[in-house]
Amino acid sequence: MKQDNFYITTPIYYPSGQPHMGHAYSSIIADVFARFKRQDNYKVFFLTGTDEHGLKIQKSAEKAKLNPIDYCDQISKVFINLTKKLNLSNDDFIRTTEKRHNKSVIDLWNRLIKSGDIYLSKYKGWYSVSDEAYYNEDEIIEKDGKKISTFSGSTVEWVEEESFFFKLSAWQNKLLEFYKKNEKFIVPYSKRNEVINFVKGGLKDLSVSRTSFSWGIRVPDNNKHVIYVWLDALTNYLSALNFPNIKDKLYENFWPASLHVIGKDILRFHAIYWPAFLLAAKIEPPQRIFSHGWILSGDEKMSKSKGNILNPIEIVDTYGADQLRYYLMKEVSHGSDGSISLKNLENCINSDLANNYGNLCQRVFSFIKNNCNNKIVKTEETSNADKKLIDESNLLMKNLRNEMNNQNLNNYIKSIINISFLTNKYINDEEPWKLKKININKMNNILHLSLEQIARISLLLNPIIPETSNKVLLALNIKLSQTNLSFLDGSEILGKKVEIKNLDILFKKIN
Ligand code: MSP
Repeated sequence: MKQDNFYITTPIYYPSGQPHMGHAYSSIIADVFARFKRQDNYKVFFLTGTDEHGLKIQKSAEKAKLNPIDYCDQISKVFINLTKKLNLSNDDFIRTTEKRHNKSVIDLWNRLIKSGDIYLSKYKGWYSVSDEAYYNEDEIIEKDGKKISTFSGSTVEWVEEESFFFKLSAWQNKLLEFYKKNEKFIVPYSKRNEVINFVKGGLKDLSVSRTSFSWGIRVPDNNKHVIYVWLDALTNYLSALNFPNIKDKLYENFWPASLHVIGKDILRFHAIYWPAFLLAAKIEPPQRIFSHGWILSGDEKMSKSKGNILNPIEIVDTYGADQLRYYLMKEVSHGSDGSISLKNLENCINSDLANNYGNLCQRVFSFIKNNCNNKIVKTEETSNADKKLIDESNLLMKNLRNEMNNQNLNNYIKSIINISFLTNKYINDEEPWKLKKININKMNNILHLSLEQIARISLLLNPIIPETSNKVLLALNIKLSQTNLSFLDGSEILGKKVEIKNLDILFKKIN
């Protein structure tokens, strides 16, 4: 991979039902990082898609009385629509039923056969269709007469069938060495420790094929078997770059992936199986896995089976995409679980977006329109209050690149919204409306400095609320494509003379 390139992925979604807030959350996080990196001059490739094979999808198709591919064609469109509704900036949308993906999975399988990491035997054990995961005996309990996984709470069934196995046990020490050498391979740290402890506890060989159903990619030279859906699905990250053609520009430019954004429920697959498959196949593993927490409704994970879903599409239609994006990124602490509710969403829109950032833009733009004919020129004089705001704002901005690169989105947003708060306070204290007749230069300076902060805040919020922030940037005559983040060192964005355009209300307050 080239130095200034950045390859970021979301998990590809099971199209087994309607998209929910957990899906939206995972996608928006990745989109925010992708947009930030683009602004920071990286060449970015951002991938999402749908995970269409396996028993779970086969069963969903049967329920819908459709054959699996028709079912997938239908429902993957719903997920494509979600990417549009959420305003995701993905560069590709991969479906695991595509030819390019099939080719890639077969190649990976053959590499694992060639390296001697796959052998034929018999699987006897527990399987959860809803997680598409195998569980050990000590991960199963009985509840209400049903066997369930203690990890996910989903029902498991007993499986006994011929199966190919991947020699995961042989990779235990090499994985531990890999985690040691790549300290930030798994973030946050708590998740890294969880994975390391699990691996230290001992790894069993992994069943990587099934014979009791047919919806999947067939094992080469053994038609009875379909490849385990997780080995199939994880490979999407390679197939989107046209692997196995390793001379392909996309592969050359973007592999190994910079960041896989995933939810904590699928950490084991990404942090253990995936690097083990890749190391065995002599392919460099990704650089980082960022595991986020769950979106909860009350105290429970939001999921279809629990019926506690907030529909992201309805929320976007009612409140707006930026509003939902901002709320999820600000309120849900990354790495931990977070409860969401309509009440909190509305409070967040009112307090941060309407009353703070929206109000700041509105009051400054309409004042300049009404009193200065949309033109401002600043002088060289700076008051103590100006200096104080500049220093405080610079200080808040200093660590922002670092916060983003360490996936500390909450800190990032808090700092920016604080700049907005301080700028509002500065305007209240400085009262430019009283200066029109007494000191027009000072008034202009106050307005100019306020506009400079608005430009900063809007550029920094762009990855999170792109639609609204673009409106403000347009009104400031700033072209996003021609700006980067060099102002993070405190340098000025606006020239001495600024001409602005009219700006409409950005966020409606919710009563
Ligand atoms: N198909 C697999 C991923 C394969 S990647 C090679 C999958 N799909 S999923 O549709 O079930 O989940 C997609 C993403 O949404 C995952 O990151 C998952 O953690 C996330 N979420 C699903 N429900 C969630 C919540 N309630 N809260 C937050 N994210 C959760 O897993």
